Amino acid sequence: MTEPSHQPRDHQDFPLSGAGLTALSIAAERNLESRRPDRLFDDHLAAAFLAPLDASRAAPPAGFRPRRSLGARWSGMHGFIGLRTRLFDDELLAAARVGGRQMVLLGAGLDTRAFRLPWPAGVRVFELDRQDVLRYKAEVLARARARARCHRVPVPVDLADEWAAALCSAGFDPTLPTVWVAEGLLLYLGRADCDGLLARVGALSQPGSRLVLDHVNAAMMQTEEFAHMAHELARVGVAWRSSIDDPLQWLAGFGWQATLVDVESYAAGLGRPVPPVLAADQRLAQRLWLVSARR
Ligand SMILES: C[S@@+](CC[C@H](N)C(=O)[O-])C[C@H]1O[C@@H](n2cnc3c(N)ncnc32)[C@H](O)[C@@H]1O
Repeated sequence: MTEPSHQPRDHQDFPLSGAGLTALSIAAERNLESRRPDRLFDDHLAAAFLAPLDASRAAPPAGFRPRRSLGARWSGMHGFIGLRTRLFDDELLAAARVGGRQMVLLGAGLDTRAFRLPWPAGVRVFELDRQDVLRYKAEVLARARARARCHRVPVPVDLADEWAAALCSAGFDPTLPTVWVAEGLLLYLGRADCDGLLARVGALSQPGSRLVLDHVNAAMMQTEEFAHMAHELARVGVAWRSSIDDPLQWLAGFGWQATLVDVESYAAGLGRPVPPVLAADQRLAQRLWLVSARR
């Protein structure tokens, strides 16, 4: 993936840049969720990732609002990120309960599942992301003296490029069934790169493997809320590059039997309102897909 190397001046002393900044915005949402009395999960490390922002003299990248870490939120996605995190937590733990021991987080960002989920013995979690994101993550985790609850393996790669060899060199076993997570990633890859990612994932997936992901359709990209977020992201050099109108058909083409999660009922089951981003403009039939697939 090519990203503009320049950053607007006022963002220069942020610890991350480009797409890496979006990982911070997700951590901000997870931090807010974790502080609720009725929290859906407890990401006790999220605040540590945000803390350096308080020390930054820079103006916050608009749309991320990390001016004060504890109050930081990604307004456009508020309410949705917590639900998505909990859903993917549940999917990973369900797979582990029936014997899954190999998990791969594609575009792991500042995800802390390796540290906070009650993994059974023998689980390995591979975290794939850009080198700068994994470096920042390692620094913060070391400062917080965080201890993983599984065997955790960070793997710096460009997911728009060939990454399978790096994953296998890091100890991934292609003879085992795998649980793949692409959470908040596909928007940042062009359609051809999404296809390439799925082809690589498929080639490494034994029967019994699972894949969970999220994406949006083209109509969602056209909503006022998404257009606003895309505009704000462009200011920090980040582009949303793809959409998928029929995720079930797309995944079937790569050998996956996929089902869609009904986000509204999932939210209702957890006693949460429909996130504002989903209520944006029904006339456009916008869809924010949460998909669970098996092979
Ligand atoms: C919105 S964040 C989501 C992070 C994480 N999955 C979560 O939910 O907290 C998107 C992540 O994808 C990563 N990413 C985007 N494009 C990438 C690429 N081409 N190669 C590796 N990582 C990429 C970014 O660095 C960032 O950490």
